[in-house]
Amino acid sequence: MSGEDRPDGHTDGGTEQTPEAGGPTDGTDGSRFAPADRVASVAPSGIREFFEVAETRDDVISLGVGEPDFTAPWPARSAAVNSLERGRTSYTANRGTEELRRAIAERVTRYDQTYDPAEEILVTTGASEAVDLAFRAFVNPGDTVALPTPTYVSYEPGVRFAGGEPLPVHTRHEDDWALTTEALYDAGVDEADVLVLCYPNNPTGATMDASEMDAVADFCREHDLLVVADEIYAALTYDGDHESVATRPGMRERTVVINGFSKAYAMTGLRLGYAMGPPDAVDAMTKIHQYTMLSAPTTAQHAALAALDRCDDDVDRMRREYDRRRRYVVSRLRELGLPVAEPGGAFYAFPRVADVAPDGDARAFATDLLEAEGVAAVPGTAFGTGGEGHIRISYATGLDDLKEAMARLERFLS
Ligand SMILES: Cc1ncc(COP(=O)(O)O)c(C=O)c1O
Repeated sequence: MSGEDRPDGHTDGGTEQTPEAGGPTDGTDGSRFAPADRVASVAPSGIREFFEVAETRDDVISLGVGEPDFTAPWPARSAAVNSLERGRTSYTANRGTEELRRAIAERVTRYDQTYDPAEEILVTTGASEAVDLAFRAFVNPGDTVALPTPTYVSYEPGVRFAGGEPLPVHTRHEDDWALTTEALYDAGVDEADVLVLCYPNNPTGATMDASEMDAVADFCREHDLLVVADEIYAALTYDGDHESVATRPGMRERTVVINGFSKAYAMTGLRLGYAMGPPDAVDAMTKIHQYTMLSAPTTAQHAALAALDRCDDDVDRMRREYDRRRRYVVSRLRELGLPVAEPGGAFYAFPRVADVAPDGDARAFATDLLEAEGVAAVPGTAFGTGGEGHIRISYATGLDDLKEAMARLERFLS
Protein backbone atom coordinates (compact mmCIF):
# COMPACT_ATOMS: atom_id res chain seq x y z
CA MET A 1 0.00 0.00 0.00
CA SER A 2 2.63 2.53 0.99
CA GLY A 3 6.11 2.91 -0.44
CA GLU A 4 7.40 0.12 1.80
CA ASP A 5 5.84 -2.62 -0.29
CA ARG A 6 7.71 -1.63 -3.38
CA PRO A 7 11.16 -3.20 -3.63
CA ASP A 8 12.99 0.14 -3.71
CA GLY A 9 10.68 1.77 -1.14
CA HIS A 10 10.10 4.70 -3.49
CA THR A 11 7.33 7.09 -2.41
CA ASP A 12 8.10 10.23 -4.44
CA GLY A 13 5.56 12.95 -3.76
CA GLY A 14 6.54 15.81 -6.03
CA THR A 15 4.88 19.21 -6.24
CA GLU A 16 1.12 19.19 -6.41
CA GLN A 17 -0.19 20.18 -9.80
CA THR A 18 -3.90 19.65 -9.32
CA PRO A 19 -6.41 22.25 -10.51
CA GLU A 20 -6.93 22.95 -6.84
CA ALA A 21 -3.35 24.19 -6.59
CA GLY A 22 -4.02 26.69 -9.35
CA GLY A 23 -3.10 26.91 -13.00
CA PRO A 24 -1.02 29.39 -14.96
CA THR A 25 -1.64 33.11 -14.59
CA ASP A 26 -3.36 35.18 -17.24
CA GLY A 27 -0.43 36.11 -19.50
CA THR A 28 -0.72 39.89 -18.97
CA ASP A 29 3.05 40.26 -18.45
CA GLY A 30 3.73 41.75 -21.88
CA SER A 31 3.00 38.52 -23.71
CA ARG A 32 1.18 38.75 -27.07
CA PHE A 33 -1.25 36.12 -25.95
CA ALA A 34 -4.39 37.74 -24.61
CA PRO A 35 -6.50 34.86 -23.37
CA ALA A 36 -9.81 34.21 -25.09
CA ASP A 37 -12.79 35.73 -23.24
CA ARG A 38 -14.00 32.41 -21.88
CA VAL A 39 -10.54 31.81 -20.42
CA ALA A 40 -10.16 35.35 -19.05
CA SER A 41 -13.57 35.04 -17.39
CA VAL A 42 -12.26 32.34 -15.08
CA ALA A 43 -10.66 33.55 -11.83
CA PRO A 44 -7.35 32.05 -10.72
CA SER A 45 -7.66 29.30 -8.12
CA GLY A 46 -8.22 30.55 -4.58
CA ILE A 47 -5.90 27.88 -3.27
CA ARG A 48 -2.72 28.79 -5.09
CA GLU A 49 -1.40 31.39 -2.67
CA PHE A 50 -1.71 29.00 0.26
CA PHE A 51 0.48 26.48 -1.44
CA GLU A 52 2.97 29.19 -2.35
CA VAL A 53 3.29 30.31 1.28
CA ALA A 54 3.29 26.72 2.50
CA GLU A 55 6.16 25.87 0.17
CA THR A 56 8.37 28.65 1.57
CA ARG A 57 8.41 27.04 5.03
CA ASP A 58 9.61 23.64 6.08
CA ASP A 59 7.50 23.29 9.25
CA VAL A 60 4.14 23.35 7.52
CA ILE A 61 1.65 20.52 7.92
CA SER A 62 -0.54 20.61 4.86
CA LEU A 63 -4.15 19.63 5.32
CA GLY A 64 -4.85 21.18 1.96
CA VAL A 65 -4.00 18.40 -0.41
CA GLY A 66 -6.81 16.66 -2.27
CA GLU A 67 -4.97 13.46 -3.05
CA PRO A 68 -4.17 10.25 -1.17
CA ASP A 69 -0.99 10.16 0.90
CA PHE A 70 -0.63 6.49 -0.09
CA THR A 71 1.30 5.14 -3.05
CA ALA A 72 -0.66 3.16 -5.65
CA PRO A 73 -0.88 -0.53 -4.66
CA TRP A 74 2.04 -2.61 -5.86
CA PRO A 75 0.04 -4.91 -8.21
CA ALA A 76 -1.07 -1.81 -10.15
CA ARG A 77 2.44 -0.39 -10.29
CA SER A 78 3.93 -3.70 -11.28
CA ALA A 79 1.35 -4.12 -14.06
CA ALA A 80 2.39 -0.70 -15.37
CA VAL A 81 6.06 -1.69 -15.30
CA ASN A 82 5.25 -5.02 -16.94
CA SER A 83 3.29 -3.44 -19.74
CA LEU A 84 6.27 -1.23 -20.52
CA GLU A 85 8.67 -4.17 -20.38
CA ARG A 86 6.49 -6.00 -22.86
CA GLY A 87 6.60 -2.99 -25.15
CA ARG A 88 2.97 -1.96 -24.83
CA THR A 89 3.65 1.60 -25.82
CA SER A 90 1.05 2.17 -28.55
CA TYR A 91 -2.34 3.87 -28.49
CA THR A 92 -5.27 1.75 -27.43
CA ALA A 93 -8.78 1.86 -28.90
CA ASN A 94 -10.23 5.36 -28.47
CA ARG A 95 -12.65 4.13 -25.85
CA GLY A 96 -9.95 2.25 -23.91
CA THR A 97 -8.97 -1.43 -23.99
CA GLU A 98 -11.87 -3.82 -24.20
CA GLU A 99 -10.53 -5.77 -21.23
CA LEU A 100 -10.50 -2.69 -19.01
CA ARG A 101 -13.98 -1.59 -20.11
CA ARG A 102 -15.27 -5.08 -19.30
CA ALA A 103 -13.61 -4.99 -15.88
CA ILE A 104 -15.11 -1.54 -15.18
CA ALA A 105 -18.58 -2.75 -16.23
CA GLU A 106 -18.22 -5.67 -13.85
CA ARG A 107 -16.96 -3.47 -11.00
CA VAL A 108 -19.75 -0.90 -11.09
CA THR A 109 -22.42 -3.55 -10.68
CA ARG A 110 -21.63 -3.19 -6.97
CA TYR A 111 -23.37 0.19 -7.19
CA ASP A 112 -26.27 -1.38 -9.14
CA GLN A 113 -24.97 0.26 -12.31
CA THR A 114 -25.10 -1.78 -15.50
CA TYR A 115 -23.29 -0.48 -18.56
CA ASP A 116 -22.41 -2.22 -21.80
CA PRO A 117 -18.60 -2.14 -22.13
CA ALA A 118 -18.86 -1.96 -25.93
CA GLU A 119 -21.04 1.13 -26.18
CA GLU A 120 -21.57 2.72 -22.80
CA ILE A 121 -18.13 3.19 -21.25
CA LEU A 122 -15.34 5.58 -22.23
CA VAL A 123 -11.93 5.40 -20.53
CA THR A 124 -10.51 8.90 -20.04
CA THR A 125 -7.36 10.68 -18.91
CA GLY A 126 -8.48 11.08 -15.31
CA ALA A 127 -12.00 11.84 -14.20
CA SER A 128 -11.01 15.42 -15.06
CA GLU A 129 -11.11 14.68 -18.76
CA ALA A 130 -14.50 13.00 -18.38
CA VAL A 131 -15.89 16.09 -16.59
CA ASP A 132 -14.55 18.36 -19.33
CA LEU A 133 -15.93 16.09 -22.08
CA ALA A 134 -19.36 16.01 -20.46
CA PHE A 135 -19.55 19.80 -20.37
CA ARG A 136 -18.25 20.24 -23.90
CA ALA A 137 -20.46 17.48 -25.31
CA PHE A 138 -23.76 18.59 -23.78
CA VAL A 139 -23.58 22.29 -22.88
CA ASN A 140 -24.54 24.76 -25.59
CA PRO A 141 -23.45 28.41 -25.34
CA GLY A 142 -25.64 30.08 -22.74
CA ASP A 143 -26.97 26.82 -21.24
CA THR A 144 -27.33 26.87 -17.48
CA VAL A 145 -25.40 24.31 -15.48
CA ALA A 146 -26.45 24.05 -11.84
CA LEU A 147 -23.56 23.53 -9.42
CA PRO A 148 -24.34 22.77 -5.79
CA THR A 149 -21.92 24.86 -3.74
CA PRO A 150 -19.54 24.29 -2.05
CA THR A 151 -18.14 21.85 -4.59
CA TYR A 152 -15.05 20.70 -6.43
CA VAL A 153 -13.09 23.59 -7.92
CA SER A 154 -12.98 22.45 -11.56
CA TYR A 155 -16.68 22.42 -12.42
CA GLU A 156 -17.24 26.17 -12.66
CA PRO A 157 -14.21 26.80 -14.93
CA GLY A 158 -15.16 23.71 -16.97
CA VAL A 159 -18.68 25.06 -17.53
CA ARG A 160 -17.29 28.45 -18.56
CA PHE A 161 -14.74 26.92 -20.94
CA ALA A 162 -17.67 25.11 -22.57
CA GLY A 163 -19.57 28.43 -22.94
CA GLY A 164 -22.17 27.60 -20.30
CA GLU A 165 -23.46 29.65 -17.37
CA PRO A 166 -22.79 28.20 -13.91
CA LEU A 167 -25.75 28.48 -11.52
CA PRO A 168 -24.78 28.12 -7.84
CA VAL A 169 -27.11 26.10 -5.63
CA HIS A 170 -26.42 26.71 -1.96
CA THR A 171 -26.24 23.72 0.34
CA ARG A 172 -26.04 24.33 4.08
CA HIS A 173 -24.08 23.07 7.04
CA GLU A 174 -27.39 22.93 8.98
CA ASP A 175 -28.66 20.32 6.47
CA ASP A 176 -25.40 18.35 6.69
CA TRP A 177 -24.70 19.78 3.22
CA ALA A 178 -27.51 17.71 1.69
CA LEU A 179 -28.91 18.92 -1.63
CA THR A 180 -32.57 19.57 -0.91
CA THR A 181 -35.43 20.10 -3.35
CA GLU A 182 -36.01 23.43 -1.64
CA ALA A 183 -32.46 24.55 -2.45
CA LEU A 184 -32.92 23.44 -6.07
CA TYR A 185 -36.12 25.49 -6.42
CA ASP A 186 -34.66 28.49 -4.56
CA ALA A 187 -31.77 28.62 -7.01
CA GLY A 188 -34.05 28.23 -10.05
CA VAL A 189 -32.66 24.87 -11.11
CA ASP A 190 -36.10 23.97 -12.49
CA GLU A 191 -35.15 26.27 -15.41
CA ALA A 192 -31.60 24.91 -15.79
CA ASP A 193 -30.28 22.48 -18.42
CA VAL A 194 -27.74 20.40 -16.52
CA LEU A 195 -27.21 19.52 -12.85
CA VAL A 196 -23.81 18.41 -11.54
CA LEU A 197 -23.84 16.04 -8.58
CA CYS A 198 -20.65 15.30 -6.66
CA TYR A 199 -21.33 12.69 -3.95
CA PRO A 200 -19.45 11.79 -1.84
CA ASN A 201 -18.63 15.46 -1.96
CA ASN A 202 -15.43 17.39 -2.20
CA PRO A 203 -15.05 19.52 0.03
CA THR A 204 -17.73 18.60 2.61
CA GLY A 205 -17.54 14.79 2.56
CA ALA A 206 -21.36 14.76 2.33
CA THR A 207 -23.03 11.69 0.89
CA MET A 208 -26.64 11.35 -0.24
CA ASP A 209 -28.90 8.82 1.40
CA ALA A 210 -31.51 6.88 -0.55
CA SER A 211 -34.44 9.20 0.14
CA GLU A 212 -32.42 12.36 -0.64
CA MET A 213 -31.33 10.76 -3.90
CA ASP A 214 -34.94 9.81 -4.74
CA ALA A 215 -36.05 13.41 -4.25
CA VAL A 216 -33.27 14.82 -6.45
CA ALA A 217 -34.03 12.21 -9.12
CA ASP A 218 -37.74 13.14 -9.06
CA PHE A 219 -36.79 16.79 -9.49
CA CYS A 220 -34.49 16.03 -12.45
CA ARG A 221 -37.14 13.99 -14.23
CA GLU A 222 -39.85 16.54 -13.58
CA HIS A 223 -37.73 19.40 -14.92
CA ASP A 224 -36.05 17.44 -17.69
CA LEU A 225 -32.46 17.98 -16.53
CA LEU A 226 -29.36 16.20 -17.75
CA VAL A 227 -27.14 15.09 -14.88
CA VAL A 228 -23.38 14.83 -14.64
CA ALA A 229 -22.71 12.63 -11.60
CA ASP A 230 -19.07 12.72 -10.47
CA GLU A 231 -18.75 9.64 -8.26
CA ILE A 232 -14.97 9.54 -7.99
CA TYR A 233 -15.17 9.05 -4.20
CA ALA A 234 -17.80 6.26 -4.39
CA ALA A 235 -15.42 3.61 -3.06
CA LEU A 236 -14.53 5.89 -0.13
CA THR A 237 -17.97 5.78 1.48
CA TYR A 238 -17.89 5.02 5.21
CA ASP A 239 -21.46 4.93 6.47
CA GLY A 240 -23.87 2.88 4.36
CA ASP A 241 -23.66 2.17 0.64
CA HIS A 242 -22.86 4.58 -2.15
CA GLU A 243 -26.05 5.80 -3.84
CA SER A 244 -25.95 6.68 -7.52
CA VAL A 245 -28.59 8.89 -9.08
CA ALA A 246 -28.30 6.86 -12.30
CA THR A 247 -29.96 3.89 -10.57
CA ARG A 248 -33.20 5.79 -10.02
CA PRO A 249 -36.13 5.17 -12.41
CA GLY A 250 -35.82 7.21 -15.57
CA MET A 251 -32.39 8.58 -14.62
CA ARG A 252 -29.99 6.28 -16.43
CA GLU A 253 -31.02 7.77 -19.78
CA ARG A 254 -30.33 11.33 -18.64
CA THR A 255 -27.15 10.80 -16.57
CA VAL A 256 -23.45 10.61 -17.33
CA VAL A 257 -21.65 8.89 -14.45
CA ILE A 258 -17.99 9.71 -13.91
CA ASN A 259 -15.56 7.72 -11.83
CA GLY A 260 -11.83 7.00 -11.77
CA PHE A 261 -8.79 5.47 -10.16
CA SER A 262 -7.14 8.54 -8.58
CA LYS A 263 -8.74 8.47 -5.16
CA ALA A 264 -9.71 4.91 -4.20
CA TYR A 265 -6.54 3.40 -5.73
CA ALA A 266 -4.19 6.30 -4.92
CA MET A 267 -3.36 6.55 -8.62
CA THR A 268 -3.58 10.33 -9.17
CA GLY A 269 -0.42 10.50 -11.25
CA LEU A 270 -1.45 7.69 -13.58
CA ARG A 271 -4.34 9.84 -14.81
CA LEU A 272 -7.12 7.37 -15.41
CA GLY A 273 -10.87 7.78 -15.18
CA TYR A 274 -14.02 6.81 -17.03
CA ALA A 275 -17.43 8.01 -18.09
CA MET A 276 -20.54 5.84 -18.39
CA GLY A 277 -23.88 6.62 -19.94
CA PRO A 278 -26.30 5.72 -22.71
CA PRO A 279 -24.66 5.02 -26.11
CA ASP A 280 -25.53 8.42 -27.63
CA ALA A 281 -23.98 10.23 -24.65
CA VAL A 282 -20.81 8.16 -24.78
CA ASP A 283 -20.63 8.57 -28.58
CA ALA A 284 -20.71 12.35 -28.25
CA MET A 285 -18.02 12.37 -25.60
CA THR A 286 -15.92 9.89 -27.58
CA LYS A 287 -16.10 12.19 -30.59
CA ILE A 288 -14.29 14.94 -28.65
CA HIS A 289 -11.97 12.46 -26.93
CA GLN A 290 -10.85 10.86 -30.19
CA TYR A 291 -9.83 14.21 -31.68
CA THR A 292 -8.26 15.66 -28.54
CA MET A 293 -6.84 12.76 -26.52
CA LEU A 294 -7.01 9.78 -28.94
CA SER A 295 -6.82 7.33 -26.05
CA ALA A 296 -6.10 7.39 -22.33
CA PRO A 297 -2.53 6.47 -21.32
CA THR A 298 -1.86 2.83 -22.23
CA THR A 299 0.43 2.13 -19.27
CA ALA A 300 -2.19 3.47 -16.86
CA GLN A 301 -4.87 1.29 -18.45
CA HIS A 302 -2.78 -1.79 -17.67
CA ALA A 303 -2.31 -0.56 -14.11
CA ALA A 304 -6.05 0.08 -13.77
CA LEU A 305 -6.92 -3.42 -14.94
CA ALA A 306 -4.64 -4.88 -12.26
CA ALA A 307 -6.13 -2.46 -9.73
CA LEU A 308 -9.60 -3.82 -10.44
CA ASP A 309 -8.41 -7.43 -10.51
CA ARG A 310 -6.05 -7.56 -7.57
CA CYS A 311 -6.22 -4.54 -5.29
CA ASP A 312 -9.50 -4.86 -3.37
CA ASP A 313 -7.62 -5.56 -0.14
CA ASP A 314 -5.43 -2.51 -0.60
CA VAL A 315 -8.46 -0.31 -1.20
CA ASP A 316 -10.07 -1.73 1.93
CA ARG A 317 -6.96 -1.05 3.97
CA MET A 318 -6.74 2.53 2.76
CA ARG A 319 -10.44 3.09 3.35
CA ARG A 320 -10.20 1.76 6.90
CA GLU A 321 -7.28 4.07 7.58
CA TYR A 322 -9.17 7.11 6.19
CA ASP A 323 -12.12 6.12 8.33
CA ARG A 324 -9.92 5.99 11.46
CA ARG A 325 -8.55 9.44 10.66
CA ARG A 326 -12.03 10.73 9.88
CA ARG A 327 -13.30 9.73 13.32
CA TYR A 328 -10.27 11.28 14.98
CA VAL A 329 -10.47 14.58 13.08
CA VAL A 330 -14.21 15.01 13.53
CA SER A 331 -14.08 14.33 17.25
CA ARG A 332 -11.06 16.62 17.77
CA LEU A 333 -12.67 19.46 15.81
CA ARG A 334 -15.83 19.15 17.90
CA GLU A 335 -13.76 19.05 21.10
CA LEU A 336 -12.17 22.30 19.99
CA GLY A 337 -15.61 23.83 19.56
CA LEU A 338 -15.64 23.87 15.75
CA PRO A 339 -18.97 22.55 14.43
CA VAL A 340 -18.53 20.00 11.65
CA ALA A 341 -21.06 17.86 9.79
CA GLU A 342 -20.25 14.15 9.80
CA PRO A 343 -18.45 13.46 6.49
CA GLY A 344 -19.86 10.17 5.15
CA GLY A 345 -17.30 9.81 2.35
CA ALA A 346 -14.21 11.15 0.52
CA PHE A 347 -11.34 12.32 2.79
CA TYR A 348 -12.36 15.81 3.85
CA ALA A 349 -13.90 17.50 6.87
CA PHE A 350 -15.43 20.94 6.48
CA PRO A 351 -15.70 22.67 9.88
CA ARG A 352 -17.29 26.06 10.47
CA VAL A 353 -14.78 28.64 11.65
CA ALA A 354 -16.96 31.73 11.13
CA ASP A 355 -17.59 32.11 14.87
CA VAL A 356 -13.88 32.23 15.72
CA ALA A 357 -12.49 33.92 12.57
CA PRO A 358 -11.69 37.65 12.30
CA ASP A 359 -14.98 39.20 11.04
CA GLY A 360 -16.19 35.67 10.38
CA ASP A 361 -13.81 35.48 7.42
CA ALA A 362 -12.52 31.95 6.81
CA ARG A 363 -9.85 33.18 4.45
CA ALA A 364 -8.34 35.40 7.17
CA PHE A 365 -8.61 32.46 9.58
CA ALA A 366 -6.72 30.16 7.19
CA THR A 367 -4.04 32.79 6.54
CA ASP A 368 -3.51 33.44 10.26
CA LEU A 369 -3.44 29.72 11.03
CA LEU A 370 -0.81 29.17 8.37
CA GLU A 371 1.31 32.09 9.53
CA ALA A 372 1.02 31.48 13.26
CA GLU A 373 1.11 27.70 13.42
CA GLY A 374 2.21 26.42 10.02
CA VAL A 375 -1.01 24.51 9.36
CA ALA A 376 -2.33 24.82 5.80
CA ALA A 377 -6.08 24.35 5.38
CA VAL A 378 -8.11 25.57 2.44
CA PRO A 379 -10.63 28.42 2.90
CA GLY A 380 -14.12 27.24 2.01
CA THR A 381 -14.74 29.99 -0.53
CA ALA A 382 -12.25 28.27 -2.84
CA PHE A 383 -15.13 25.83 -3.40
CA GLY A 384 -17.70 28.49 -4.19
CA THR A 385 -19.74 30.99 -2.22
CA GLY A 386 -21.47 28.16 -0.36
CA GLY A 387 -18.19 27.50 1.45
CA GLU A 388 -18.08 30.84 3.25
CA GLY A 389 -17.19 30.64 6.95
CA HIS A 390 -15.63 27.18 6.60
CA ILE A 391 -12.26 25.57 5.95
CA ARG A 392 -11.48 22.26 4.27
CA ILE A 393 -9.29 19.83 6.15
CA SER A 394 -8.03 16.88 4.17
CA TYR A 395 -7.34 13.76 6.19
CA ALA A 396 -5.39 12.21 3.35
CA THR A 397 -2.55 12.98 5.75
CA GLY A 398 -0.91 10.55 8.22
CA LEU A 399 -2.40 10.29 11.71
CA ASP A 400 0.76 11.64 13.39
CA ASP A 401 0.63 14.79 11.27
CA LEU A 402 -3.10 15.09 11.90
CA LYS A 403 -2.51 14.88 15.65
CA GLU A 404 0.20 17.53 15.51
CA ALA A 405 -2.01 19.73 13.28
CA MET A 406 -4.91 19.45 15.75
CA ALA A 407 -2.59 20.33 18.65
CA ARG A 408 -1.42 23.41 16.75
CA LEU A 409 -5.01 24.31 15.91
CA GLU A 410 -5.92 24.05 19.58
CA ARG A 411 -3.05 26.38 20.52
CA PHE A 412 -4.12 28.78 17.77
CA LEU A 413 -7.73 28.85 18.95
CA SER A 414 -6.75 29.47 22.56
C1 LIG B 1 -14.71 15.56 -7.13
C2 LIG B 1 -13.49 15.36 -7.95
N1 LIG B 1 -13.63 15.01 -9.24
C3 LIG B 1 -12.56 14.83 -10.02
C4 LIG B 1 -11.27 15.00 -9.53
C5 LIG B 1 -10.11 14.79 -10.46
O1 LIG B 1 -9.86 13.43 -10.60
P1 LIG B 1 -8.77 12.83 -11.59
O2 LIG B 1 -7.47 12.79 -10.84
O3 LIG B 1 -9.26 11.45 -11.89
O4 LIG B 1 -8.71 13.69 -12.78
C6 LIG B 1 -11.08 15.37 -8.20
C7 LIG B 1 -9.73 15.62 -7.66
O5 LIG B 1 -9.54 16.21 -6.61
C8 LIG B 1 -12.22 15.55 -7.38
O6 LIG B 1 -12.12 15.88 -6.09
